[in-house]
Amino acid sequence: MEAGRVLISEEHIARRLREMGEEISRDYQGETLLVVGVLRGAFMVMADLARHITVPVEFDFMAVSSYGMSTKTSGVVRILKDLDAEITDRHVLLVEDIVDSGLTYDYLLRTLRLRGPASIEMATLLMKEGMQQVPVETKYVGFTIGPEFVVGYGLDHQQLYRNLPYIGVLDEHA
Ligand code: IMP
Repeated sequence: MEAGRVLISEEHIARRLREMGEEISRDYQGETLLVVGVLRGAFMVMADLARHITVPVEFDFMAVSSYGMSTKTSGVVRILKDLDAEITDRHVLLVEDIVDSGLTYDYLLRTLRLRGPASIEMATLLMKEGMQQVPVETKYVGFTIGPEFVVGYGLDHQQLYRNLPYIGVLDEHA
């Protein structure tokens, strides 16, 4: 396998996303939700999570850049594509692939809160334990992982491996 060892299998991801979707559906009962995917990494998580959400849902996307070509965070977050939708008085759920330093999360939350949503929460498939440089309160977390660099299920290394159906640990020597 090119991307190194499997950390989280396709079956585990599917099961966890189903549970998260059910939890989200319970929490937002009676509301309409605006699910915002943070591109590019979140495209797969968003598509699979959304299939388990049973409350009325609209979708929008933001694109941000963080790492460039490196595997270390630059600390600089840039919005490449903003939301199309107005979020004032809406219930917003941001969907991320991974929270590492938390700088992307922090920036997005601060920026979007200024627009006056009724509520704003985040769902992430992965959370790197102990790596956050800012306080992070993510309501829905799929899996907590160690500090290793992972790929697959939307996550890339130099734009490759996003299509892997599992989360793998990158083998730098592959
Ligand atoms: P943060 O701002 O440091 O929390 O990083 C968030 C973004 O960095 C994610 O949305 C990913 O695009 C990228 N990232 C962080 N860790 C990894 C990793 O292990 N593999 C691939 N991308 C990562």
